Amino acid sequence: MPKSIVIIGSQWGDEGKGKFVDLLTENVNAVVRFQGGHNAGHTIIINGNKTVLHLIPSEIMRDDVINLIGNGVVLSLAALTKEIEMLQGHGINVFSKLLISDACSLLLPSHEKLDQAHEDLRNNEIGTTRRGIGPAYEDKIARRGVRIGDLFHKEYFAEKLKNILDFHNFILQNYYRAETLNFDQTLNTIYKLFEPIKKIVRDIPSILEKYRTENKTILFEGAQGTFLDIDHGTYPYVTSSNTTIGGVSTGSGFGSLYLDYSLGIVKAYTTRVGAGPFPTELNDEVGEYICSKGNEVGATTGRKRRCGWLDLVMLKRSVLLNSFSGLGLTKLDVLDGLEKIKICTAYKLNGAIIHNVPTNIEDFKNCQPIYEEVEGWRQSTFQVTTYTKLPKQAINYIKFIEEFVKIPITIISTGPDRIDTILLKPFE
Ligand code: IMP
Repeated sequence: MPKSIVIIGSQWGDEGKGKFVDLLTENVNAVVRFQGGHNAGHTIIINGNKTVLHLIPSEIMRDDVINLIGNGVVLSLAALTKEIEMLQGHGINVFSKLLISDACSLLLPSHEKLDQAHEDLRNNEIGTTRRGIGPAYEDKIARRGVRIGDLFHKEYFAEKLKNILDFHNFILQNYYRAETLNFDQTLNTIYKLFEPIKKIVRDIPSILEKYRTENKTILFEGAQGTFLDIDHGTYPYVTSSNTTIGGVSTGSGFGSLYLDYSLGIVKAYTTRVGAGPFPTELNDEVGEYICSKGNEVGATTGRKRRCGWLDLVMLKRSVLLNSFSGLGLTKLDVLDGLEKIKICTAYKLNGAIIHNVPTNIEDFKNCQPIYEEVEGWRQSTFQVTTYTKLPKQAINYIKFIEEFVKIPITIISTGPDRIDTILLKPFE
């Protein structure tokens, strides 16, 4: 097994990365988050109860895995505390296996207010999760943000917070006509929230280097998906971080050339939450069928996901952007029972046939999918664990994808449980 693996969503997020992270961490010493914030959502089951983690990697449930939050994550102390308290309440000793980078930018309550005010004013222009992710990254890039490590220098932190809050309040009041935040109250809340957390704040790059030289196995867990990447996604309908492989290195301090394996996760069809063009979207009963069979509802916001056919033009681009070594295919069973299945293999744009995802959003909006149609399968693939037991049409579907993108599908998921998996040739 490779020593450093990255798992990345190849579409617009919600590909089912969590299941593979869970599956692979049996043999892993550390799991690292490197981008995003509490916009991500991963459903876990504790003592039979369903709950959602947004910031803390779900491997916190395992005793022998260290969970790391890298500097690329925008960290809400309130959201983190909520998750820690919930987990501690279930007897999980979070503080013994969670470490946070001292260079994490803080996501402040005013960032959430700004995100919400913006979405309200513009009628859900992007359809964000309203968690303040965009404004937090804006401040980071504008170099006015505060980092968790700044909290070890109280006066310095207070001064920086004062400046940033004055700025936010000005915009909230004068541009959005929204409520402002009180500085003293905000400062005291942050100090209070920081107190129990400060003991797990560390220099993560040195820890990762130590693990690497000790030959430990490290898994980098991507949040969201390739086409939500701030640079390579369907801008401006994206999130504000680098969700593609480059984010691993900048968001954790682990050198790019140390990565051994890049696993892309692809759903057997496509979904998207929020606004933005979606060439293979289905606004018909087939879309409804996939959506309800696949239970396509967002874990963070509870919003219904938009559903459509698999888009191989996008997947090919994703392979290129992330240097995927192999693919994990999820939710194959959701397509059971469809007579015909369509696969998008090119677009028509302004009368011409194109084979790439255009960078400009106006061009992408105008792309008409060109489909190849394959036979569906009547039999159930639900919980099938042996490749040869899959219906021949399902095998043909898998082969079609592999041949098109020219990398192997190494793991197939046929149901929500860890055991509902076909392990083909992982990491070959
Ligand atoms: P933000 O990340 O809250 O700024 O939202 C920007 C876009 O990313 C919106 O279209 C969201 O629906 C989408 N998004 C953010 N996080 C996730 C996720 O975890 N899964 C799927 N879409 C997401």
